[in-house]
Amino acid sequence: MLGVCYLEQIINHFVYLMSANFSILLIEADCVETQVQKIMLAPEKFNLIHETNSTDAWNFLHGKHALDLIIFNLNTPNSSFFTISYEKLLTAIKSQHQWRNVPIILLSDVQISKKEILMKIAKHVDAFILSPFNPKRFLKEVNELINKGINKHIAEIHQQHIDLARRINQLIDITEYSTDVVEKIEKLMIIKQLAFEHFDFEESYMRNHNYADYLVHFQNHEVMRNSIRFLLKDPKERINKDELKKFYSEMFDDLKDDEQYIRFLDQIKMSEVE
Ligand SMILES: [Fe+2]
Ligand SMILES: [Fe+2]
Repeated sequence: MLGVCYLEQIINHFVYLMSANFSILLIEADCVETQVQKIMLAPEKFNLIHETNSTDAWNFLHGKHALDLIIFNLNTPNSSFFTISYEKLLTAIKSQHQWRNVPIILLSDVQISKKEILMKIAKHVDAFILSPFNPKRFLKEVNELINKGINKHIAEIHQQHIDLARRINQLIDITEYSTDVVEKIEKLMIIKQLAFEHFDFEESYMRNHNYADYLVHFQNHEVMRNSIRFLLKDPKERINKDELKKFYSEMFDDLKDDEQYIRFLDQIKMSEVE
C-alpha cells in the first residue's frame, strides 16, 4: 500500500507541474511599483511570492522553500521590536546552504552611498536598482540573475557530490585497517547527514523547477536513504568495504540522473532581454 508521504509526493508533483519553472520572493511593502512587478513577473513564467515585511519573509524562508531569486525593497518595514533587521535577514539567507546561491536584487529610492544601512547590506546583494526603475532594465536584471543563480546551483550540486564521494572513499579506506566501530559509525553518521541534506536540496529544487522526472529521482534517493539506514541498523557487521562499495555504486547511478536534471536546467534558462 502506498504511504501517506509517498502520496503527498505524487500530489506535490502534479501541483508543481502546473506552475512556472522559477520562484521569486519579493520582499516589499505594497507600493505603486508592486503592481508593475506583478505584471512583469507574470505567473506563466514565474511563481511570485510576495511578503510585505521582513518578519513574514523570514517565516516564509524557514518553511524550507526553494527559490531562484529574491527581490528586496528597502521600503519593507522592520521597525517593531519583534521584526527581523534587514542585515540579519540577508545574512541568514547567505549563510544557509539552500539559499546561499540565490541572487538578491536590492531596490531602493536612495543612492547606496547616501545611507549607512545600505552600505552595510550592499555586500549581500548581487544587483542594486534605484527606483523608480526602468521596467526593461529590471526584467533584464531578473533574467540575468536567475541564470547566474542556476549556474551557481549546478556548481553547488557538483561540489556536494565531490564532498560525499570523498567521505565515502575515506570510510572505505578506514574499513581496510581499523576495527574501531565507533569511528566508523561517526563517519557514517556524517555521511548520512550530508547525503540526506543533499537529497532534500536536490528534491526541493527539482520540484521548484517542475522537473518532469522528479518522482523517479525521488524514488532513487529513497533507495539510498534506506541503504544508509540499513548500514546503521547493524553497524558492526554492515559497515564494511563491500556494503560501502554497493552504496557508492548506487550514488554513482544517481549522478547519471543528476546530470539529466542539470541538462534540463541548462534548457530552461531565461532568454536575453534586449
Ligand atoms: Fe540526485
Ligand atoms: Fe545528487
